[in-house]
Amino acid sequence: MLTQTELKQNVASAAIEYVLPWLTPDTILGVGTGSTVDLFIDALAPYKDRFLGAASSSERSSARLEALGIKVFDLNQVQGMPLYVDGADEIDQGLNMIKGGGGALTREKIVASVADQFVCIVDESKVVECLGRFPLPVEVIPMAREAVARRLSELGGKPALREGFTTDNGCQILDVSGLAITEPAKLESLINDIPGVVCCGLFALAGADVVLVSTQDGVRRLDKNPS
Ligand code: 5RP
Repeated sequence: MLTQTELKQNVASAAIEYVLPWLTPDTILGVGTGSTVDLFIDALAPYKDRFLGAASSSERSSARLEALGIKVFDLNQVQGMPLYVDGADEIDQGLNMIKGGGGALTREKIVASVADQFVCIVDESKVVECLGRFPLPVEVIPMAREAVARRLSELGGKPALREGFTTDNGCQILDVSGLAITEPAKLESLINDIPGVVCCGLFALAGADVVLVSTQDGVRRLDKNPS
């Protein structure tokens, strides 16, 4: 029986196989955040001379990339990227995701928006029928925290402040439990529209394009638009 760390290691290796054909001397790769991505970054390092560098979704990933000799570009210097590789906290069959367990949701959404393709790398524990068992992270401007929390309660959620945590953007996170997310794109828009919300951890308006899922029987691939 493979442990969750071994499953994450396997999907990180599979992601390298997926990414290699895209690497050219001009390629900038989008890199997400989390323990699965940490393993992906480590596995990417031996190929650092095959591509130009990375744009990252967190200070944590940037530090890891740079420590391994991979150049990190400010997103403002980047015109486009073929791929953005990141993990998820939950993903459903429609390739909608909950992200932000590591608190990097806003930068994840921004960097992903510049890439042609979102490649999600998860172990099988993250694949769900319906999103919402994992509390939905919502990044908020600190002065708006209580006002946003009241609006999230009206939507049926139970918001809890992530104590002692500040995002890379200097903001706070409300983790919202108790939401049955039957219409992820609609809920994403609703939450994004609350004044004071910086970003909501639903990735449904733009979900994943490809998912690599690590299972006890190997890594399987799901495509948003199977050909
Ligand atoms: C960070 C994220 C991560 O992708 C998500 O939390 C999954 O993390 P891990 O790979 O450690 O399970 O959204 O903000």
